[in-house]
Amino acid sequence: MIHYTQHIHAELQGLLGAAGADRAFLLMDETTARLCRPLLGTAADTLLPVVIPPTDAHKTLATLADVWRALVSGGASRRSLLVNLGGGMVTDLGGFAAATFKRGIRYINIPTTLLSMVDAAVGGKTGINFEGLKNEIGAFRDSEAVVIDTSFLRTLDTPNVLSGYAEMLKHALLRGGEMWLDHLRFDPSRPDLTRLQEMVRQSIDVKSSIVAEDPHERGLRKALNLGHTVGHAFESLALRRGQPVLHGYAVAWGLVCELYLSCRLAGFPEDAMRQAWNFVREHYGTFAFTCDDYPALLELMRHDKKNAGGAINFTLLEAPGHLRLDSHATDAQIEDMLDFYTNT
Ligand SMILES: NC(=O)c1ccc[n+]([C@@H]2O[C@H](COP(=O)([O-])OP(=O)(O)OC[C@H]3O[C@@H](n4cnc5c(N)ncnc54)[C@H](O)[C@@H]3O)[C@@H](O)[C@H]2O)c1
Ligand SMILES: [Zn+2]
Repeated sequence: MIHYTQHIHAELQGLLGAAGADRAFLLMDETTARLCRPLLGTAADTLLPVVIPPTDAHKTLATLADVWRALVSGGASRRSLLVNLGGGMVTDLGGFAAATFKRGIRYINIPTTLLSMVDAAVGGKTGINFEGLKNEIGAFRDSEAVVIDTSFLRTLDTPNVLSGYAEMLKHALLRGGEMWLDHLRFDPSRPDLTRLQEMVRQSIDVKSSIVAEDPHERGLRKALNLGHTVGHAFESLALRRGQPVLHGYAVAWGLVCELYLSCRLAGFPEDAMRQAWNFVREHYGTFAFTCDDYPALLELMRHDKKNAGGAINFTLLEAPGHLRLDSHATDAQIEDMLDFYTNT
């Protein structure tokens, strides 16, 4: 159940009352404990706080064990509740702690970054990184509730707002129509949070309806990989260079590349591609690489987990809102796409 509110305090009080848990815990990272916990006010006074270090670097087994330990020492039972207050790192790790503690306890997500609102906190995927591999260990487990309040974004830095907005652009492209045009008219660098709350609702609707049809990623859920085949390759290359970029920036750059490929292979309209291109360049800048990087980029795309055999698999669009799953592109077509990116 997703709850949209601008009164997080009252909403949480209601949810806690309805849950009737014997004990409830509040998982936060150090930053959300400082900046987001105050917005919960007295509604969270009965929750036992559990604070972990921030960022994806700590989405590890060691941190997970600390959370299990805090649950044990706080006397958690199978009827207890975990409330996750934070970005995707907290909702992923907290969700997995809840999925595994005593074979599963209930949890509620209160996402505090735009990325976690429209992506990480919804859809039931939980997990941690392991042995240097992203999200290597995890489980599908649905939350009892997700509570969305864009007021939390007041303290979030602009790059993290933009990073989340890239996933919203993806959802808007998948839906098409007015939703896509609205997203091009919005200014994510100076967001109107009231308007954004409504756009987040639309965005979650797109993700939820896709996940509902394909909860375990057997087919349609691949639509959510739009922009990610190329995006992940950019993200990995940046990491190798020791200049990591935020996930959403790589997705935004990946989206425009895959729209170019959609023009070439699936008849996506050229003017719509150029509009997207201009928007992304204005807000996200561009990712710098040369033809010397092509072999590495192709290799990274080939190793993307969605590929069976050697072919590089893409989700393409015939137009905004019109999907073509499981398309393949040859190396020459991908190099042409990379040429277009570096030349434009
Ligand atoms: N489960 C899924 O389906 C799914 C989908 C996408 C991403 N993810 C995961 O989500 C994570 C990325 O999420 P993220 O971008 O939210 O990262 P994050 O949770 O690391 O948050 C980014 C930073 O913002 C800080 N922060 C959080 N809320 C804040 C606020 N309101 N004001 C100020 N600072 C705040 C955090 O402390 C952190 O330093 C990755 O681990 C990724 O694997 C999961
Ligand atoms: Zn993503």
